[in-house]
Amino acid sequence: MEHLRGKWALVTGASSGFGVEFARLLAERHANLVLVARRTEPMDKLAEELRRKHLVQVVVIGMDLSRAGVGPELKSDLDGRGIAIDVLVNNAGLGMYGSFLDQSLQKITEMMQVNMMTLTELTYVFARDMVKRGGGHVLLLASLLGYQAVPGYAAYAATKAYVLLFGEALHQELEPYGVVVTALCPGLSATSFPEVAGQRVSPVLKMMIMKPHPVAEAGILAMLGRRAAVIPGFFNKVTAFLNRLMPSSMQSMVVGKVVKG
Ligand SMILES: NC(=O)c1ccc[n+]([C@@H]2O[C@H](COP(=O)([O-])OP(=O)(O)OC[C@H]3O[C@@H](n4cnc5c(N)ncnc54)[C@H](OP(=O)(O)O)[C@@H]3O)[C@@H](O)[C@H]2O)c1
Repeated sequence: MEHLRGKWALVTGASSGFGVEFARLLAERHANLVLVARRTEPMDKLAEELRRKHLVQVVVIGMDLSRAGVGPELKSDLDGRGIAIDVLVNNAGLGMYGSFLDQSLQKITEMMQVNMMTLTELTYVFARDMVKRGGGHVLLLASLLGYQAVPGYAAYAATKAYVLLFGEALHQELEPYGVVVTALCPGLSATSFPEVAGQRVSPVLKMMIMKPHPVAEAGILAMLGRRAAVIPGFFNKVTAFLNRLMPSSMQSMVVGKVVKG
């Protein structure tokens, strides 16, 4: 197992789901952690667990990431504490399922802010610092839904297509500077995601759903293995492969139907 002793990792969305698993996997590798999300209580509990089990330092920051400008704010907060980030896990995010025109415009823009704009701000400020220091890792949470248009998840899937393309391009741009950027593309997984998104998990989807731990582990291993992108799970890999064989209109029709259940 690759050691990250003495390094600092920042995990956004560390109050539930994949974020908790990323924090545990990084602490197992002896990284110190900065945990960020709105709900501090679950992060305080997680911080206690990680300090006790792995003797690492953990800082908890309660922050709403749906505001413009939070990236530089967080960076200057950490600069003030003397913490330089070596591993950035841009995980915080949410989905919104349903008819686009029936959704709240304010909620759609907040989702776009968290999933894309804040992720971009954080990547910008921390990757610049990593380049100056000669290395680092950035993991970006994209999605299997980022590979095609998805009726019912129109805006959400488009945010994840952005993350995927942004990540793959940055992987090449930053490689010469020793900074690895990796996009993780999970399929449906057993976190709060479907409930927050308002998506019913149909019996077909239940057969494909993954537990969050192996998904997060695939992401950490791909990031440490310096890969550009990874799709965790056999079914998800097959789905992405079959997609490539279909015309794009058929891809989005099929995926839209599967997601609807
Ligand atoms: N589970 C899936 O099926 C799936 C599949 C593909 C991709 N993903 C992606 O995986 C990432 C993690 O989601 P998850 O599945 O672990 O879902 P989750 O259990 O609902 O966790 C989402 C995390 O994001 C944080 N978050 C949401 N809005 C925020 C805001 N405005 N400010 C700060 N933090 C915010 C939440 O914290 P607070 O509520 O405490 O703020 C929570 O910690 C997301 O980017 C999601 O799009 C999930």
